[in-house]
Amino acid sequence: MTFTNPRSSEYPVEPLFLDRWSPRAFDGSAVPPSDLLTILDAARWAPSAFNSQPWRFVYAVKGTPDFDKLLGLLNDFNKSWASDAGALVFLLSKTHLLPPGAQDEVPSYSHSLDAGAAWGSAALQASLLGYAAHGMTGIHLDKVHEVLGVPDGYRAELAFAIGKRGDKAKLPEGLQARETPSPRKPLAEVAFEGTFKA
Ligand SMILES: Cc1cc2nc3c(=O)[nH]c(=O)nc-3n(C[C@H](O)[C@H](O)[C@H](O)COP(=O)(O)O)c2cc1C
Repeated sequence: MTFTNPRSSEYPVEPLFLDRWSPRAFDGSAVPPSDLLTILDAARWAPSAFNSQPWRFVYAVKGTPDFDKLLGLLNDFNKSWASDAGALVFLLSKTHLLPPGAQDEVPSYSHSLDAGAAWGSAALQASLLGYAAHGMTGIHLDKVHEVLGVPDGYRAELAFAIGKRGDKAKLPEGLQARETPSPRKPLAEVAFEGTFKA
């Protein structure tokens, strides 16, 4: 299968940033655990406040009972396409951290931000390995803690599907049209020298 990528950047960024995107058509093959753990290993090298590393991952590989358990936490829309992914991952973040030298944990200002950096690294590592990763917040947030056995003190951030890209013809028509790398706002609309421009 040949895939083209219509994206172009304004400055000479590394191609991996443009090559990563979020398809919904997967080929249904399981992600080998060694590849999945490579992706999560890359994620844990993300930066975080006080190196607190608030990210936690709960994962499952296609074809296992755990995969069906995690799939059941997605909303119906996401379930409809993510069922063909080769692995599912739920990302949680620890809401409190222990500052250096402190006796007690304090609320972390940036636990979600830090977890987001880890998700970004996971998505890029997946892409570099020839997989696609697709993030989702369309999940049954009220059920995540109970179903996955997550204790208090962790926030469910997002789930992501990982897999090899598949034929978009098997997606519903509306989704087939969206099965292409999305554009971005111009850099000048999001990056300001000195003063914010609304
Ligand atoms: C936090 C987050 C939540 C998302 N939730 C969903 C979702 O529930 N369902 C879905 O199909 N895509 C979801 N996406 C995918 C985004 O729509 C996609 O990343 C965005 O349109 C940019 O496209 P790209 O990733 O292909 O560059 C989510 C992405 C992120 C980062």
